[in-house]
Amino acid sequence: MSTTTDLIEVSERRSAHNYHPLPVVIHEAHGAWVTDVEGKRYLDCLAGYSSLNFGHGNPKIIEAAQEQLKNLTLTSRAFYHDQFATFCAGLGDLTGKDMILPMNTGAEAVETAIKVARKWGYEVKGVQPEQANIIVMEDNFHGRTTTIVSFSTDPDAREGFGPYTPGFRIVKYGSVEAIREAVDANTVAVLFEPIQGEAGVLVPPDGYLTQVRELCTAEGILMIADEIQSGLGRTGKTFACDHEGVVPDMYVLGKALGGGVVPVSAIAANEDVLGVIKPGQHGSTFGGNPLACAVGNAVIEMLNTGEYQSRAAELGEVLHARLRELIGHGVITVRGRGLWAGVDIDPSLATGREVSKGLMARGVLAKDTHGSTIRLAPPIVISEEDLLWAVDQLADTIASFR
Ligand SMILES: Cc1ncc(COP(=O)(O)O)c(C=O)c1O
Repeated sequence: MSTTTDLIEVSERRSAHNYHPLPVVIHEAHGAWVTDVEGKRYLDCLAGYSSLNFGHGNPKIIEAAQEQLKNLTLTSRAFYHDQFATFCAGLGDLTGKDMILPMNTGAEAVETAIKVARKWGYEVKGVQPEQANIIVMEDNFHGRTTTIVSFSTDPDAREGFGPYTPGFRIVKYGSVEAIREAVDANTVAVLFEPIQGEAGVLVPPDGYLTQVRELCTAEGILMIADEIQSGLGRTGKTFACDHEGVVPDMYVLGKALGGGVVPVSAIAANEDVLGVIKPGQHGSTFGGNPLACAVGNAVIEMLNTGEYQSRAAELGEVLHARLRELIGHGVITVRGRGLWAGVDIDPSLATGREVSKGLMARGVLAKDTHGSTIRLAPPIVISEEDLLWAVDQLADTIASFR
């Protein structure tokens, strides 16, 4: 059983249909390119939803992982291990925060942020027990756990999974006034994505992050930035909040922190916030494991050079300039920042799925979101030539539907 058709047939028959993959079976990958089981090469313009910012098989990350595999892979947090201190100190320095709480997946880090915010609310802010509320945004995407889908506005993500966790207030994204109206004495946090990825790479209006920061400070509310997809170089800065020089009270990180090798997530905050968590109140057997920390340490070292952030900024200019040329030629709008773009295709021409399939036939892997939007987020190590070639394929694909 080695052909694409056979492997897809068994995958579909023997796995839950919680995803709708494109019909390609990948066998290996290096840098920005992947090869399928038939030997056909594709340019990866999704990069594991920004988990592969540093490219497939990045030599520094693979070397760190291989070294660590030889020495120690798991201790659980019942003991210390020698990669942990470097990871927490390094990520603390990168985020400018005192403390780190490591977990594995993005959703777990978001859950951690929610728990910490509530506990901080009761113990530090003085909110009455069980009364804390957290303000979240319409069209958010923070993961798939029962608490997180409780405040999703996407019917596919939410419906059928009740009863839902209370304690969330949903407001319009991009409007600081909407947050102001929702705040009351029991509000402990505003949880938001500085750029909404799944919603279609929605960039909030200029000044929004600054105003949210000011409001949170004035009201004594934690500003929690979910930078799981927007952070770690993708937008041309270490964090998307950096574009407005804004520092949230808590960063929620994941995806690229694991270098595309292992799931690594974390929250970062100062001691007055994260200090509320005591032994037994939160944790995960694999959270902060030696392999995860060793990979995370390699990622942090790479980000400390600033090289990837600059490259994403420079290539981002190239990408957006070229994409803007397609507006009026089957493309309605282009949004994004750095090496990250949401491209709205004229829905009368084709669905996003049809465009993704057209791109695939031309050797480019990308994924649609919400109707006719295509997301482009190639690994930051992509060459300029390959990047422009990918946009040419998009132009040709769209033209084929006209
Ligand atoms: C902004 C954001 N938060 C949280 C998550 C959830 O991360 P994970 O899929 O690792 O649970 C995602 C995943 O796409 C995300 O984009």
